[in-house]
Amino acid sequence: MPSVSFLWKYIYYTQNSCHGVCLLLPKSYRAELHSTRWVSHFPAPRIDRIIEINIYQSKMVKVWFMDNEQKIDQRLEHHRSPPAYLELPELYQKTGVEYFKINADDYQNDAILRELRAKRGYTYDDEITCSEKCLPDYANKLKNFFTEHLHTEEEIRLVLDGSGYFDVRDNEEQWLRIQVVKGDLIIIPAGIYHRFTLDSNNFVKVRRYFVGKPVWTPHNRPADDLDCRKSYLKHQAENFVQFKQA
Ligand SMILES: [Fe+2]
Repeated sequence: MPSVSFLWKYIYYTQNSCHGVCLLLPKSYRAELHSTRWVSHFPAPRIDRIIEINIYQSKMVKVWFMDNEQKIDQRLEHHRSPPAYLELPELYQKTGVEYFKINADDYQNDAILRELRAKRGYTYDDEITCSEKCLPDYANKLKNFFTEHLHTEEEIRLVLDGSGYFDVRDNEEQWLRIQVVKGDLIIIPAGIYHRFTLDSNNFVKVRRYFVGKPVWTPHNRPADDLDCRKSYLKHQAENFVQFKQA
């Protein structure tokens, strides 16, 4: 179960054979029945039913508003004080960025990824590892990744291992930081200003997807005259209501 982590076991005792258990959980939590059994208490003539429920918490991607500290290492978290987080629906509404949780250990057979590839026509994919070892001239590469830019096509990344941050501009020009870890698939729309950085672990392995022949060219800001930028702003003004493709 890659997208959730076990949190705790809830044990419920009841003397009724017909029972119902109601658990009020936050939306990132999930409950699953683990076992149910009867136990007798001797010599007392009492029989209890024990129901064990496992509680899982979704490993949701974390998104937050960044501080404006440009002199501090880009690989640090750059939280505001106090930290200000965003839920995924808000992220989508502000930026059009989409997020999916994929089983990174068996991504070829992941149903969500298969559906995405089929629906959106991702015909190309490859793999890239970024680390001090793998990337020559690492410090400069980090700076390049972190230069604000946009693309004429979607940027689709699935993290197979390691971690990093995608920063995207919201509808008020604020930087939102999206922390990606193993199993996170993120789709950065064409025309949005964004940047990427590794975090202080300095390691990430990702699969890249593309429709047709891959175009990696970044257009550094300002690139407001490009059609993809104009189209993006139009969708943003409509809160991306007509935008979602899958
Ligand atoms: Fe990019």
